[in-house]
Amino acid sequence: MTDATCAVAVESTTHNSTIDPLLFRQLLGCFPTGVAVITTTAANGQPAGLTCNSFSSVSLEPPLVLFSLRKASSLVSTFAGAEAFAINILSQQQGALSGRFASSKITDKFQGVAWRKGPLGMPIIDDCLVSFECSVFARHEAGDHDIFIGEVKHMGQGCADQALVYYKGAYRMLAQSLRTLVVQGQLGSDDLDEAYRTLYGTLLRLACERSTEAELDAIELAADTIERHGPDDALALRIDSATRFFSAIAVAGHNEALTLMAQTMIAVLRERMTHVIPAGPRPDLFALRRKIVQGLRHRDPHGAASALDDLITQLREQA
Ligand SMILES: Cc1cc2nc3c(=O)[nH]c(=O)nc-3n(C[C@H](O)[C@H](O)[C@H](O)COP(=O)(O)O)c2cc1C
Repeated sequence: MTDATCAVAVESTTHNSTIDPLLFRQLLGCFPTGVAVITTTAANGQPAGLTCNSFSSVSLEPPLVLFSLRKASSLVSTFAGAEAFAINILSQQQGALSGRFASSKITDKFQGVAWRKGPLGMPIIDDCLVSFECSVFARHEAGDHDIFIGEVKHMGQGCADQALVYYKGAYRMLAQSLRTLVVQGQLGSDDLDEAYRTLYGTLLRLACERSTEAELDAIELAADTIERHGPDDALALRIDSATRFFSAIAVAGHNEALTLMAQTMIAVLRERMTHVIPAGPRPDLFALRRKIVQGLRHRDPHGAASALDDLITQLREQA
């Protein structure tokens, strides 16, 4: 991207009077973070925990750290009643653990996970990079999150030496190798197209069965946004809109493993649109996206998938 297009992207974002929550989230993702599983012990003695990347250091003396917890989380009352918590910083080998503790569908997140109690009785997960066991020092409400500040009482270091890093909605090792594959042209177009057709064909079928009307509205809104872009809109904004359309379809499919795969394919799309095929606006694709939305609205998986096929073919022909 040139400096000129970059300036347009920043300007058109900051001049907006409202901050779009989806874009805000996406832009926050440009700050690479580690990943931690924050654990505590519930009133019934059971261990509880969630994946967090909002962990941050606060003070050296006294030793304070913080994390923020979504008020909508099912663990809000558990943490509200807790006097202590532990921060388990994940290693590069613990990506699966991150997915497990981020899932709202898994009820017993500790099943099959090796852990022990720390001196304060908090769950310390085995093989983490580092663990901090903290007493609750303060709690503050902040928007849709609660900020928990902990005073570190005990800490320990594991044998792993590489942290799991989260960046732009994906784990960094994955994003990095994808970038290399895409930019160096090692991923063939035919293979990519086949992968998009297979993955999104399945997601569209699932979305026809499982999506809520609100999720279909989100897909349609993403299609609207793509059509509203002017020819002078920055490439970064157009990439965001294109990825939002595909992310919304993945969400509507209600399958976490496929959503993870879709995130990977969306990362590939971003890389391709940024470095390989930075195409201009494509009004010729508007009707095909509309047909996908229509197929979903009519709960017609064949109609939706065949419109997707046409979209991919057309994209390739004109690219
Ligand atoms: C990389 C990553 C970072 C996350 N960071 C936070 C966070 O800082 N605070 C939070 O409340 N949820 C965060 N989440 C989401 C929670 O892990 C997830 O909502 C929760 O564990 C699912 O259970 P719940 O639906 O009961 O909240 C994150 C998820 C991922 C994948």
